[in-house]
Amino acid sequence: MSKVVRVAVTGAAGRVSSSLIVRLASGEVFGPETKVVLQLLELPAALKNLEGAMYELQDCGFSTLKDVVITDDANVAFKDANWALLVGAAPRGPGEQRKDLIRKNGPIFVGQGRAIAKHAASDVRVLVVGNPCNTNCLIAYKNGRDVPADRWHAMTRLDHNRAVSALAAKAGTTNDAVTCMTIWGNHSNTQFPDFTNAKIGGKPATGVITDRAWLEGTFVPNTQERGKFIIDTTKVSSSFSAANGAIDHVKTLVRGTAAGDWTSAAIVSKGEYGVPAGLVFGYPCTSSGDGNWKVVEGLTFDEFGQKKFKTSLDELLQEQEVVKDLLPS
Ligand code: NAI
Repeated sequence: MSKVVRVAVTGAAGRVSSSLIVRLASGEVFGPETKVVLQLLELPAALKNLEGAMYELQDCGFSTLKDVVITDDANVAFKDANWALLVGAAPRGPGEQRKDLIRKNGPIFVGQGRAIAKHAASDVRVLVVGNPCNTNCLIAYKNGRDVPADRWHAMTRLDHNRAVSALAAKAGTTNDAVTCMTIWGNHSNTQFPDFTNAKIGGKPATGVITDRAWLEGTFVPNTQERGKFIIDTTKVSSSFSAANGAIDHVKTLVRGTAAGDWTSAAIVSKGEYGVPAGLVFGYPCTSSGDGNWKVVEGLTFDEFGQKKFKTSLDELLQEQEVVKDLLPS
């Protein structure tokens, strides 16, 4: 009998999820022998659009898609879910600050964290994509404490992929030559895309790209601001590249990282690299393909890296302060 994987996706009628659900259904992530049940959550106003998406998924005729559930009830969406991909969140409105967005979206993750803890499968893994994803993940985890801390993740994989692609282009090589990239800290414009520990063709990236001014003054800010650059160019935020980041995150947990390489994920800190335990922080991570992350220890920073790391850590501590009433102790 083939294995069945239940994947809950929130904000399922939105732009990111529209790409995500097709790739989840296709067998690309869990393989041809695994049947996927998609459990799609939306706000009531978007259910009609979601119904359309469900019909289109049926029309793809994927051999790996067993069923599609559409609902506006989180208790139904997370029932027995093995994976919960939390994409649904309100976008930042005109004139709104990051702090306003945190307050607007935070409460969504209180309810969803509780519903996951109550209804999901005992092996559930949660990936928060909806922004501000680190702090939304922190809220969901603190409200869903019955699920072990190491199951809660926020997405820095899109930033990771962007950073790899930018270094490869500058070095005149292909993306697969870039390894050991890390997005430290927050998925925001304070993140530190760490070129100092990255490699290109197995050599230190700083030895291949010797233009330090470009690395510090162009690569870092461009990676930090890439999301804004996409919005400025297209008037809407990243969609299929964001879905691709989520797919890569899950795939890596299912299949593992290559020997000698790692990837980026924001996870609940156990205090690694001096980050206060409990904060959802972007780290270099490996996986053996067993669904778990392991933080790569022992990396060092130069003065530039230390400064960038601290800026992102300070921002996450400030975000935690803004939502402290949503975090049960
Ligand atoms: P969108 O506006 O197209 O879709 C969001 C969907 O979420 C909407 O259909 C909305 O009805 C739904 N939604 C809102 N509140 C909900 C709730 N409480 N329960 C269920 N569904 C709910 O937005 P898009 O472009 O798909 O982006 C989704 C989120 O992903 C945004 O927060 C965006 O900032 C974030 N994002 C994160 C990235 C990352 O790298 N971590 C990259 C790109 C986007």
